[in-house]
Amino acid sequence: MVVPGQQDPEEKIFLPPEDLRANAHVPDFNSYLTLYKQSIEEPEEFWRNVAEEFYWQEPPSGQMLQYNFDVTKDGVYIKFMEGAKTNMCYNVLDRNVLDLKLGEKVAYHWEGNSPGHRLTITYSQLLKQVCRCANALKQLGVKKGDRVAIYLPMIPELVYSMLACARIGAVHSIVFAGFSSESLAERIMDAQCNVLVTADGVYRGEKLINLKQISNEALEYCREKGSLTVQKCLVVKHYAFRINGNDTCNKLQTPWNADCDVWWDEVVESASDECIPEWLDAEDPLFILYTSGSTGKPKGVLHTVAGYLLYTSLTFKYVFDHHHDDVYWCTADIGWITGHSYITYGPLANGATSVLFEGIPVYPHVGRFWEIIEKYRVSKFYTAPTAIRLLMKYGREPLQKFDLSSLRVLGTVGEPINPEAWLWYHDAVGHGRCPVVDTFWQTETGGHVLTPLPAATALKPGSATLPFFGVLPCILNEHGEELEGEAEGYLVFRKPWPGIMRGVYGNQERFENTYFKKFPGFYVTGDGCRRDKDGYYWITGRIDDMLNVSGHLLSTAEVEAALSEHSAVAEAAVVSRPHTVKGECLYCFVTLKDCRELNHTLMEELKRKVREKIGPIATPDFIQNAPALPKTRSGKIMRRVLRQIARNEKDLGDLSTLADPKVVEVLLSQRCEAAA
Ligand code: WT7
Repeated sequence: MVVPGQQDPEEKIFLPPEDLRANAHVPDFNSYLTLYKQSIEEPEEFWRNVAEEFYWQEPPSGQMLQYNFDVTKDGVYIKFMEGAKTNMCYNVLDRNVLDLKLGEKVAYHWEGNSPGHRLTITYSQLLKQVCRCANALKQLGVKKGDRVAIYLPMIPELVYSMLACARIGAVHSIVFAGFSSESLAERIMDAQCNVLVTADGVYRGEKLINLKQISNEALEYCREKGSLTVQKCLVVKHYAFRINGNDTCNKLQTPWNADCDVWWDEVVESASDECIPEWLDAEDPLFILYTSGSTGKPKGVLHTVAGYLLYTSLTFKYVFDHHHDDVYWCTADIGWITGHSYITYGPLANGATSVLFEGIPVYPHVGRFWEIIEKYRVSKFYTAPTAIRLLMKYGREPLQKFDLSSLRVLGTVGEPINPEAWLWYHDAVGHGRCPVVDTFWQTETGGHVLTPLPAATALKPGSATLPFFGVLPCILNEHGEELEGEAEGYLVFRKPWPGIMRGVYGNQERFENTYFKKFPGFYVTGDGCRRDKDGYYWITGRIDDMLNVSGHLLSTAEVEAALSEHSAVAEAAVVSRPHTVKGECLYCFVTLKDCRELNHTLMEELKRKVREKIGPIATPDFIQNAPALPKTRSGKIMRRVLRQIARNEKDLGDLSTLADPKVVEVLLSQRCEAAA
């Protein structure tokens, strides 16, 4: 590894600021190298040291890490500290309150969608609320190993209920509250959840969303499919409706099913605020989180207790260089892995104070983020490239109204960040004083795997830089040969780290096929990657049939299946097209039955279909009528050509394998210029 900038003085690099280095956990590049080397050469000792920070009911003995990544041998598996006994919730709450005396410290400043709505929650209050919820879940019949679906907006009850599950050994399966009823139903059925936790409703900006209605539709859907496993539905009355009196009933007309539904207020608030944690094996499941799969059916990514605890905790501490007087804010939703790892578990494991934000960046005004940073004196800020690009559009004026001098480190996650957005973030938001940590990771990796450390790593805009401790990245070519030095190819990992997924819930075969089959001996990310002369990694984007819209992965197959469900559609093919704010957006080609016309009404119906089947994030931006799709003689759709048409590329390259090249001319002449 070479120090960047030494070989090419022309290259734009940003060195860590001196003031950060003074008391940073990893104060310089050499310290990073030393720790990295130790983590790779002596992983057992490295992770045993990290484990010492935590409470073990039964201490770790024997080997820390056991695994098989080679799909040609018997079964892929990863086990970390198996045999040790602990509890996640105890470690992130009781340990802070009892051992570290942080009971009075603020765990969360909750800031609601509407500016007046806020709450402050200390560690001891959080512990009590979690215990109440844990006792209530037990009353509802939840036992160790049961799955609990959580479909909640960004309110404190979301944190309470996930930690309550962790406390009693139940497995949470959180479904982002922007998903449709069918998406929710599919996830509930796949994990056979016994209980659903939801809310009456929520405002996103000015839009009112009736979550209980959607939840009822989801349960109805499960019933129709003959697999209704949910017996109880725990319903939170959202703060926004509580303070307006009976608003809920009037506006939302919360549909109620007395056999199954219980109000949170009635069972949780009256429950005891003490609950003995369930001691679990290090390898017992902690949660399932669904992520899009290239076949169209989402995969239930499974994480277990101890490895995930150690990994999210350590990455949080080092990547944000966390100190006890920090105020940290991650703008993600807990419904995604970013929120699981870096709003709930990682920060709490470090006794951090976080902002928990329910709203959106542009409501009630486009300076909302900056206002919140000023209000809570946020020092570490973590957001997504799509949010940065959105806010960039409004220029620097909204920023100038607020005092951002508390900021020390800025982070980004979710998709490759274009250098222009990186530089704006660094200059306009960070005033050139704050390192930008571009963190590359996945639902499957549990935590950051390629990332700078703010006081140690020289930055290059657009690069996720170097591996985190314990992570061994490789770049392979199409034949699975490892490439050395400067190279571009498939990004894979050679060895597990504690936070890597343990499986696809209920489907070992899919786990192996998706991640380990293409290159035996490696975990395959699905991303393309370039390594430069300094050993820095640059993610080039997905190389499978996945799209990244605003930092959310979608599978083309999933959207195609939704479109094909419409009675007018004979066939659909979906590709990505670059988008200035979302990064990528959906461009859909549809072949209609009986020469139907793609008029405005049908276009709207198709969009609605996708929203209903998946959710608003998957709404197509472009829909083009395709009298026929370009196919090879064997009938395979040539997506490359469709992608080029969508991007208005003039040179379509070699079309000789097409069964009927004329199809392409027709499609080119009917390209969509403007969004649907
Ligand atoms: C995919 C994982 C990790 C939490 C959010 C998304 C893309 C993520 C970066 C980054 C370039 C990135 C990759 C990855 N991605 N972070 N810093 N630079 N690409 O989690 O839904 O599991 O998506 O997001 O393509 O594979 P996810």
